[in-house]
Amino acid sequence: MGMHRTISALFGFTERSVDDKLRGRVTRDGIRIHEPADFAGMHRAGTLAAEILDACSVLVFPGQTTEAIDDAIRGMVEDAGARSATIGYRGYRHASCISVNHVVCHGIPGPKLLRDGDILNIDVTVIVDGWYGDSSRMFVAGNPSRKAVRLIDVTHDALMEGIAQVRPGNTFGDIGAAIQRHVEAHRMSVVRDFCGHGLGRVFHAPPNVLHYGRPGTGPVLEEGMFFTIEPMVNLGRPETKVLADEWTAVTRDKSLSAQFEHSVGVTATGCEIFTLSPAGRFHPTWDAP
Ligand code: MF3
Ligand code: CO
Ligand code: CO
Repeated sequence: MGMHRTISALFGFTERSVDDKLRGRVTRDGIRIHEPADFAGMHRAGTLAAEILDACSVLVFPGQTTEAIDDAIRGMVEDAGARSATIGYRGYRHASCISVNHVVCHGIPGPKLLRDGDILNIDVTVIVDGWYGDSSRMFVAGNPSRKAVRLIDVTHDALMEGIAQVRPGNTFGDIGAAIQRHVEAHRMSVVRDFCGHGLGRVFHAPPNVLHYGRPGTGPVLEEGMFFTIEPMVNLGRPETKVLADEWTAVTRDKSLSAQFEHSVGVTATGCEIFTLSPAGRFHPTWDAP
């Protein structure tokens, strides 16, 4: 079923066999509860992912290739003494996914030149001392159209609306509902075919973090859960298809798509965002370099 191609079919839960050997508690939904001391490791990994994305701002311009951006990302991961989580992951060979215009996610870096007005998502996942930091954000090459800027704003704000729901006692359905409500209020659509995921000392773990849903449904959030929220939003219809390269997901109607992703941890009173931008550059129109 298309809906839960998501993490379970796309990535599988083979990583669970690793996760199962870790200490600590797992909920009946299979969601790991981490220790207070584990937050520091996630902050180190998340901050490195964010710093690398901060450094990408100056690398995005008309005439640039996405493979040159990916090469720079690979170099930054190495220079930091970290590892890329994506190189070698299920046959993927790059340090980032770069998804341009109507590419929804998992765009493969390549030699095609960026053009004036292109919008792109760069998604970086690093491993620092065994902890995974996963974040993505939007960039613009030159001058984007007004509708592209609106799409980026709505997608960013939808992520933040989802994050605002993260606290013990709320449910994953509350997160999805807040995101869906914001997106649909702006007459755009939420992609159903991909979702966020638990992470920690593994890349993809339960739960599937859906970016749509009904308040009060789904697993209840508990202190110590670590997961991503990474809504993909289309200007047109929500349907996607994966190209013959078996990675690149595009909108079926060729409409523009945007995505932002943070890795977060549930605290006693709310949440901590592990992937905050040290330069304050998470949104492309904030503090241009
Ligand atoms: N970083 C992506 C995510 O948010 C996963 C990329 S897997 C890759 O979950 F193999 F495509 F890089
Ligand atoms: Co992710
Ligand atoms: Co990611």
